[in-house]
Amino acid sequence: MKSNVLPWLAVFLAVTSLLRGAEPTVQSVTTRDLALVYSVDAAHRLMFRHFGPKLAHEAELARAKTPAVSDVRSMRHWEAYPAYGRAEVYSPALQVTHADGSLVTELVFAQRKTLPAPEGVTHTVFVLRDAVQPLTAELHLEAYAQENVFAQWVEVSHSEKGPIAIGSIFSGFLPSAARKYFLSHFHGAWSSEMTLSEEELKPGVKIIESQRGVRITQQDNPSFLLALDQPATEETGEIIGGALAWSGNFRLSFQVDEWGQLRTLAGLNPFVSELKLAPGEPFVSPKFIFTYSPAGRGLVSRRLHDWARRYALADGFTPRSIVLNSWEGAYFKFDEATLTGMIDGAAQLGVETFVLDDGWFGNKHPRDSAEAGLGDWQTNIKKLPRGLNYLADYAESKGMKFGLWIEPEMVNPRSELAERHPEWIVQSPGREKIAMRNQWLLDLGNPAVQEFVWQMVDRLLTEHPKIAYLKWDANRHVSQPGTTALPADRQSSFWTAYVRGLYSVYAKIRAKYPQIILQVCASGGGRVDFGALAYHHEFWASDNTDALSRLTIQYGTNLIYPPIATAAHVSTSPNHQTGNVTPLKFRFDVAMTGRLGLELQPKDMDAAEQEFARAAIATYKRIRPLLAQGDLYRMHSPYEPGGWVSQMLVAKDRTQAAVFVFSTQAHRRGVVPTLRLRGLDPAKRYKVTELNRLAPAKGAGAFWGNGQTFTGEYLTEIGLEANIGKIYTSAVFLLEAVP
Ligand code: GLA
Repeated sequence: MKSNVLPWLAVFLAVTSLLRGAEPTVQSVTTRDLALVYSVDAAHRLMFRHFGPKLAHEAELARAKTPAVSDVRSMRHWEAYPAYGRAEVYSPALQVTHADGSLVTELVFAQRKTLPAPEGVTHTVFVLRDAVQPLTAELHLEAYAQENVFAQWVEVSHSEKGPIAIGSIFSGFLPSAARKYFLSHFHGAWSSEMTLSEEELKPGVKIIESQRGVRITQQDNPSFLLALDQPATEETGEIIGGALAWSGNFRLSFQVDEWGQLRTLAGLNPFVSELKLAPGEPFVSPKFIFTYSPAGRGLVSRRLHDWARRYALADGFTPRSIVLNSWEGAYFKFDEATLTGMIDGAAQLGVETFVLDDGWFGNKHPRDSAEAGLGDWQTNIKKLPRGLNYLADYAESKGMKFGLWIEPEMVNPRSELAERHPEWIVQSPGREKIAMRNQWLLDLGNPAVQEFVWQMVDRLLTEHPKIAYLKWDANRHVSQPGTTALPADRQSSFWTAYVRGLYSVYAKIRAKYPQIILQVCASGGGRVDFGALAYHHEFWASDNTDALSRLTIQYGTNLIYPPIATAAHVSTSPNHQTGNVTPLKFRFDVAMTGRLGLELQPKDMDAAEQEFARAAIATYKRIRPLLAQGDLYRMHSPYEPGGWVSQMLVAKDRTQAAVFVFSTQAHRRGVVPTLRLRGLDPAKRYKVTELNRLAPAKGAGAFWGNGQTFTGEYLTEIGLEANIGKIYTSAVFLLEAVP
C-alpha cells in the first residue's frame, strides 16, 4: 500500500505547489537519523536546503526565501543539482551543449517519483527538465535507512533535434555553510596507498582526481572526509564522508566561494571526456555515496562499512577463508613441486585457500617474468605438466581450496594475443603504444574484448571447476587513449566505455559463479573503490606487506572501506619491499586486523615460527566473525605522535570484542599505552583474555588483569593498560561478556 500511495501523493503535492506557484514545498529524503532536504522555490527550482540530522520541524525550511533567478549568488543559494545556465558562476554539476549549439541549461522541477527498492532502502527521483529544450535530468537518491547512508546519481536523456554534448556531469553536489572546512583525503603511490592527508580548505578550488583511466586509486582515492568548523577527530565533530563508486577517471572538487561557503562536487572527471548523446540515448552517472556524522569520523567509517557490507561487497557479513598467496614466496620461479610443497606447508598451518599468483601461463611466450605471456591464458606445461586441476585436487586432498591470479585486461607485446589482435589494444592511430611493466592495455570498451575476457574466465572456471578464488589484477594505467570500437567523434567516451565494459564482465562472472571469492587488485591498492568492490569480496590493499607500513595503509583504507574486504598478508622478515625487520607476532597481529593471509614460503619458517603461526591462525578463526559482523573503533592513530596504534572490533550486540594494540617505536621502560575502550556496554562485565601470546605463555602477559573480569564502564573510563613498549611489540585481547 505504502509504496503505491506515496509516489502519487508526492506528485500531487508537487503539482499543486507548482500550480499555486508561490510557496516553496519541502522535499526531504530521510534515513533513520539523517535528512537531505530540498525545496521547490517560486521559480520552480529544486533548491538544496539541508544535509545532516533529521529535523523535527523541516516544514520551517519552506519559509526561507531564495533569491530571484536573476540574482548573482548569495548566501545559501544552492540548486540541488546546478546546471550551467541562469546566474551560475561556479563549476556546475552539469554542463550541456545542446543540439542547437546553446551552452545553457535551466533545470526546473517537474516531478518527484518513488521507485521500487529493496527493503530498508527508498529510491526517490527528482525529475528536472530544461526550461527550453526537451532535456531531462533525473536526480536519483537512494536512502539506506539503517546504515544512514545516501547514494546519489543522475540520469540525463533528451529528444533534441540532434546529439547533445555533455561537458561535465557530476553525480552529486553537496554544499555546506560552516566557519571552516577541513578536508581529509587519501593520497599515495604504489606501496603507500591510502595515506591520509588533511588540510584546511581555503578560498579557491581543491581538486582530488584521477585521469589515469585504470588503476585509478593508486595515487588518489575517490573518497573523502570533510570536517565542518574544526578538524576531524575520531569521536567529535560534524563530518561528511563521501565516496564515488567508480573505477575510472573521477573528480572530487571542493570550492570555497566568495561567501565562505563550500561547494562539493563528486563525479566523473570531465578531463577530455565530452559525452555525445543521441536523442533517446540516456546517460547514467556513477553513484556518489555519502553520509554524515555528528560525532566524529569513527561513526562515518562504521556507517560506510555497514553500508558496504550489505550493499557494495559480495557476501559482506560472511567470515572469510584464510589464504596463502604464492607471490612473495615464489614469484615467477616455481614448478609443481614448489607449489605442492607450499600447499603442504600451508595446510599444516591451518590455511584454508592456496592462491597461485602470477607465472602459471603462456607456452609460446612463457610467463617466466613480467616480460611475456600476458594474454595467453593456457597453463604452462613445462612448469605445471599435470595442469591446474592437479594442483586444485592436491589442495583439496589437504583440506584446502584452490585460487588463481589473472590479469585479463592486459597483454604483453610478447604474446600470441598481441600477434592475433593488435586492434584490441588501447591506442591512438599512428602513434606509439607505450608499454608499462612491459604490457599494453586491452580495450575493455570494445564488446569483442569484453567477450574475449568473459570467455577466457568462463573457460578457465569451467575447465577447472575446483577454482574457488580469483585474484583479478591490473598492472598499468591508460596512455595514448583511443579505441577502435567508437567512431572518431566519440573517442572521448573511451573512459566511461572502458569502465562500463569492465563492469559488464564482472557482472557476468558474479552471476554465473556467485560462490567464487573474487579479489580486486591493481598493482596492490590501485582499484580500491566502491564501484569495483560491489563485484568482489575483497581487495589487495597494497603490494607493501611490511607490517609497519600496513598499519598506516590499513588505517587509511579502513577509514572508508571495511576491514573484512582488506586483504592483509603476513610476509617474511626482512620484508621483501622495505627490508624492515619485525617479529612474526607483530606481523600476524597487524594482518589479523584485516582478512588474514600469508604471503611467504611456509617451509622457510623454523619450527617455532610454524608453531606460532599455527596457533595464530587458529586464534584468528575464533575472532573473524567480529571482522565480518562487528563494528570498528579506533583508539590510537598511526598519524598521532606517541608510537602507538590501537583499534578494536565490537560485536553488534556488544557481547564480544577484539582489541589490537601496537608499539611502532621504542618506548622508555614503563611507558605503556592506556586503551580506553570504545563501543562496549558500560553495564556488562567482560572477561579479558590475551590472545596470540608468545609461547611459552607465562604470567599475566601484556595485561596485569589478564583472565579477569571488568565492567564495560571500567574498560571505557579507566581503560586497559597494555604492557607493551618495545619497538614492534603488540597485543591482542578478546573481551567476552559474562553473565
Ligand atoms: C601485482 C600485484 C601483486 C602480484 C604481482 C604479480 O603487482 O599487486 O600482488 O600479483 O602483480 O605480477
